[in-house]
Amino acid sequence: MTDQRAPENSPGGTMEAVVNLCKRRGFIFPSAEIYGGFRSTYDYGPLGVLMLRNVKDAWWRSMVQMRHDVVGLDAAILSSPKIWAASGHLENFTDPLVDCKSCKERSRLDQLETCLVTEDLLKTWSKKGWKGLEKINLGDQVPVCSSCGSPDLTEARAFNLMFKTFVGPMEESGAEAYLRPETAQGMFVNFSNILNTSRKRPPFGIAQTGKSFRNEITPGNFVFRTREFEQMELEFFVPPAESDRWFEYWLKERFDWYLNLGIPEESIRLRHHDSQELSHYSAGTCDVEFLYPWGWGELEGIANRTDYDLTQHSKFSGEKLEYFDQQSGERYTPHVIEPAAGATRAMMAFLLSAYAQDEVGGETRTVLRLDPRLAPYKVAVLPLSKKEPLIDLSNRVFDLLKVRYMCDYDETQSIGRRYRRQDEIGTPVCVTVDFDSLDDESVTIRSRDTTDQVRVPIGELLSLLGDKLGF
Ligand code: GAP
Repeated sequence: MTDQRAPENSPGGTMEAVVNLCKRRGFIFPSAEIYGGFRSTYDYGPLGVLMLRNVKDAWWRSMVQMRHDVVGLDAAILSSPKIWAASGHLENFTDPLVDCKSCKERSRLDQLETCLVTEDLLKTWSKKGWKGLEKINLGDQVPVCSSCGSPDLTEARAFNLMFKTFVGPMEESGAEAYLRPETAQGMFVNFSNILNTSRKRPPFGIAQTGKSFRNEITPGNFVFRTREFEQMELEFFVPPAESDRWFEYWLKERFDWYLNLGIPEESIRLRHHDSQELSHYSAGTCDVEFLYPWGWGELEGIANRTDYDLTQHSKFSGEKLEYFDQQSGERYTPHVIEPAAGATRAMMAFLLSAYAQDEVGGETRTVLRLDPRLAPYKVAVLPLSKKEPLIDLSNRVFDLLKVRYMCDYDETQSIGRRYRRQDEIGTPVCVTVDFDSLDDESVTIRSRDTTDQVRVPIGELLSLLGDKLGF
């Protein structure tokens, strides 16, 4: 991977620094590395699995636990292919695929750079022996291959992004199924089940986190775009007349969620899609964008899906997917506002934002200033020495804290190196057990962000940590 520097004045780390840290410290590994890796797939290591879970938990807490108008769901990844016929994914979930006739690079047409054709440029291209130049006019803006720069590309063809598989022992027609490319459809096809069992009425939402799969033509930029990834989606069902109001409501809620968890204000913005950019189901979409090291890009999409999905599934299944309001006697198909986020992409944005280097005691240190809710470990218990009485007491401290917090325990290397390691993986607080602790039943707590150290009685540790971490 090339070193993609953070744009001037954007806070956080470079891509190279964050990718290295993820590998070195056990957040994210290239998948099947012993076999040379596998096509932009990644495995989440001991710290990555904790952090990804924290991202999803923070989302779930804000979207489900803290509200009385949203319920959860965990739908199947493999389900009826009729879902994808109805949703329009079989027909429309495509990207324009082109091949470079010179170097054979395969690309997405809409992601290629374009060049203004001048006489000089035509001469240069001709010297390189590139074909198809007779079809190009001076003054045209033409797409060029991202690898060799040639304008000699095949016609774009629609490439469906869904992964196809077969259910049952025979690979035959009628046995095809698809890995879901979004979690959203699980919510639509369960609309009646949930309406009938949860006693919710519009406006209400169904939330789900889980894996989705897309056969992306050009995955890349680490876990920004992968073929297997995790989503966090809410389908919020509203009376049609209220859809504009709820759309605005969710824009603000979702924007504030990222700010609240530590994305700096200067690294996040909202961008409304123009009409050509809209997905086949959307009457309006606004992206929450993040300032990645290569520039602004999508972090989350918030769409007004209208009654598109419920109407389509009603048509294809024959089941009426409507709401009957007993008070007004009105029957209607709710409209849907959908905030759709990527958990793996959000984790990368949080890592990029949290990465920092500063100076401590005349030495440069790397520190992940993660919000404590997202940090893999909240506390590290560090005995100053491996001598037995200290280890016993340290284990007692660990046992006290582990019930409430995900804790690390580390008795290797010098205490300075252990502090540096915990700073680098974002642990907000270290608890050091030393020989005095055996006499005074006190320990030292050290803060990641300030490196301040204070002595506290073990009996007060839990309440002090509660104040410090905020939970
Ligand atoms: N249900 C609507 C939907 O899926 P989307 O904008 O295609 O909308 C929502 O996806 C979010 O899922 C994106 O904003 C992004 O965070 C994440 N996402 C989509 N494709 C991804 C990929 N190939 N790799 C990683 N994350 C992806």
